[in-house]
Amino acid sequence: MASSWVGQWRSSAWVVSTCLLVALLTCTLRCSECVTLSNIILILTDDQDVEMGGMTPMKKTKELIGDAGVTFSNAFTATPLCCPSRSSIITGKYPHNHLVRNNSISGNCSSTAWQKEAEPFAFPVYLNKMSYQTFYGGKYLNQYGSKDAGGVDHVPPGWDQWHALVGNSKYYNYTLSVNGKEEKHGDNYEKDYLTDLVLNRSLHFLEERSPNHPFFMMLCPPSPHSPWTAAPQYQQSFSDVKAPRNGSFNMPGKDKHWLLRQPANPMPNSSIEYLDNAYRRRWQTLLSVDDMVEQLIKKLDSIKELNNTYIFYTSDHGYHTGQFSLPIDKRQLYEFDIRIPLLVRGPGIKPKQTLQSPVLNIDLSMTILDIAGANLSTVNMDGQSFLPQMAPWLRNGTERPFFLVEYTGEGHSSEDPSCPKLGPGLAECFPDCVCEDAFNNTYACVRVLKDANLQYCEFADNESFVEVYNLTSDPHELENIVKKVDPALLQIMNQRLIKLQSCTGDSCRNIK
Ligand SMILES: *[C@@H]1O[C@H](CO)[C@@H](O)[C@H](O)[C@H]1NC(C)=O
Ligand SMILES: *[C@@H]1O[C@H](CO)[C@@H](O)[C@H](O)[C@H]1NC(C)=O
Ligand SMILES: *[C@@H]1O[C@H](CO)[C@@H](O)[C@H](O)[C@H]1NC(C)=O
Ligand SMILES: *[C@@H]1O[C@H](CO)[C@@H](O)[C@H](O)[C@H]1NC(C)=O
Ligand SMILES: *[C@@H]1O[C@H](CO)[C@@H](O)[C@H](O)[C@H]1NC(C)=O
Ligand SMILES: *[C@@H]1O[C@H](CO)[C@@H](O)[C@H](O)[C@H]1NC(C)=O
Ligand SMILES: *[C@@H]1O[C@H](CO)[C@@H](O)[C@H](O)[C@H]1NC(C)=O
Ligand SMILES: *[C@@H]1O[C@H](CO)[C@@H](O)[C@H](O)[C@H]1NC(C)=O
Ligand SMILES: *[C@@H]1O[C@H](CO)[C@@H](O)[C@H](O)[C@H]1NC(C)=O
Ligand SMILES: *[C@@H]1O[C@H](CO)[C@@H](O)[C@H](O)[C@H]1NC(C)=O
Ligand SMILES: *[C@@H]1O[C@H](CO)[C@@H](O)[C@H](O)[C@H]1NC(C)=O
Ligand SMILES: *[C@@H]1O[C@H](CO)[C@@H](O)[C@H](O)[C@H]1NC(C)=O
Repeated sequence: MASSWVGQWRSSAWVVSTCLLVALLTCTLRCSECVTLSNIILILTDDQDVEMGGMTPMKKTKELIGDAGVTFSNAFTATPLCCPSRSSIITGKYPHNHLVRNNSISGNCSSTAWQKEAEPFAFPVYLNKMSYQTFYGGKYLNQYGSKDAGGVDHVPPGWDQWHALVGNSKYYNYTLSVNGKEEKHGDNYEKDYLTDLVLNRSLHFLEERSPNHPFFMMLCPPSPHSPWTAAPQYQQSFSDVKAPRNGSFNMPGKDKHWLLRQPANPMPNSSIEYLDNAYRRRWQTLLSVDDMVEQLIKKLDSIKELNNTYIFYTSDHGYHTGQFSLPIDKRQLYEFDIRIPLLVRGPGIKPKQTLQSPVLNIDLSMTILDIAGANLSTVNMDGQSFLPQMAPWLRNGTERPFFLVEYTGEGHSSEDPSCPKLGPGLAECFPDCVCEDAFNNTYACVRVLKDANLQYCEFADNESFVEVYNLTSDPHELENIVKKVDPALLQIMNQRLIKLQSCTGDSCRNIK
């Protein structure tokens, strides 16, 4: 590290003083003589979109994290479903490498195979070995804690303090694994509201930690996932808010893959009422997360750790409310489901930056390990550190020109009894029997953001369906241009896709 500063010392007085300041703030980054390594916090919400105003209720978060650091305007998930996405975040791998295909144990969500093959190589294990004290609070993987996944006794390696939700997001009446012991909760707001409890446990961890070692905390509130149970003081908030009617809201998906050609268009009023209600309640649940961020930052300030702590705020994937006449869900290849919020503050990161660099959720683990000073070439992950984009004065690095989004559709082998007209193979047919998923909603896409703004997707269905969008001229992906575009471009995109779908580690980062 020392030698890389030399050139900059000579360049100008301004650079010198900036470097001095940065060096003081972050001398920690890779320098073994320094005593204090930086602390790191990752806040991960569930189902929070960025395209339809999902960050709008987060006023304090935008100010305390975004304005104090960077807001990424091109952050994406590698896959738009909770369990596979969360598995990507903690392993730093694309789904084809961590092998978590869906939210079921049979699809490797928290399965014993995952516990044996993937969890021991997740980034918290490295941090823990590097003397970080680690804390987990909130939702982990959808099947975590279930009997067939080892029950609450299973505490993944790398965590000193483990307060994880059993199963999928809930706000009340849930069970936690507290360091391997079952802890049951009721529905008393003061004692049980999960978002508040995660905050309280994290504050307690900060009080009890040893000041001689850095810490890493991962805070995963259930918000804004269903059942959208707001804290009592927020149940009347946003009473006149409705889902925005912009973009592809209530548009037909006529030239799209099979599943998108099914919903009634325009949507029935009952679907619109349902989704507006969901939209409002999602926002209400986020107000508690906004409070969490404020309280946490207050605490860090009071223990004098705020200036030595990186804070990442993100979500596992996006969400839609009415786009292409789909009432509510994720699981689609479009921007509203694959884009995620990503805000980061920390030592050496200049405030008030908006960055266009494309980043993926598989990059979080590499970035965190980079900050902790790990030797990244010893880590087997598909992502790449985006520290160079946030703080180019600390690290050199190139951004990726394009990346992979891959998804395996979920279905049920029998038909849904409440929707008798639909056959088997579908899932999430709610409300009004509009199905949001199917076994053949299985696709892989190349998303290009450098020199062009394109998406190219291939489906594993019996039409071998292809969708192509030019987001420069069509930001809401209204027109599938597969039949209009130069065949040579389709061929290039197909070749990139083939390479990406079988990439691992370096070969995921260096595809031309
Ligand atoms: C952080 O702030 C505290 C005072 O609040 C100061 O003692 C410490 O040196 C600062 N640390 C860094 C890395 O700037
Ligand atoms: C739709 O409108 C909302 C609220 O005004 C805004 O936050 C969002 O960015 C818009 N989305 C699109 C896709 O234009
Ligand atoms: C689950 O993971 C194991 C190895 O970790 C792998 O052998 C198996 O094929 C995976 N299952 C699926 C459905 O991908
Ligand atoms: C929690 O469970 C109790 C007992 O089953 C039930 O009465 C109550 O309605 C539940 N609360 C919530 C918020 O679901
Ligand atoms: C969290 O702590 C605050 C402040 O002590 C308290 O008012 C609140 O009831 C606690 N909530 C939970 C769910 O523990
Ligand atoms: C649906 O709502 C629209 C606008 O509020 C209204 O004009 C229309 O009559 C409603 N349709 C039905 C079938 O209720
Ligand atoms: C990082 O690890 C690689 C592979 O083990 C090794 O060749 C390299 O020397 C290490 N770099 C540092 C700075 O330790
Ligand atoms: C980045 O690369 C340039 C040119 O190769 C070099 O002069 C500079 O010191 C590097 N900066 C950092 C932070 O490593
Ligand atoms: C999850 O994946 C497994 C393995 O491919 C499959 O058997 C199962 O049906 C899938 N679950 C759902 C709900 O699609
Ligand atoms: C997708 O699966 C559904 C349900 O099995 C089936 O009806 C439909 O024909 C399939 N479509 C394609 C394009 O494979
Ligand atoms: C497409 O697949 C579905 C089941 O997924 C099947 O019912 C249908 O007959 C298939 N169509 C063709 C043209 O192969
Ligand atoms: C995408 O649209 C832009 C703006 O209209 C145009 O310049 C560009 O050539 C288009 N790209 C493709 C591949 O069609």
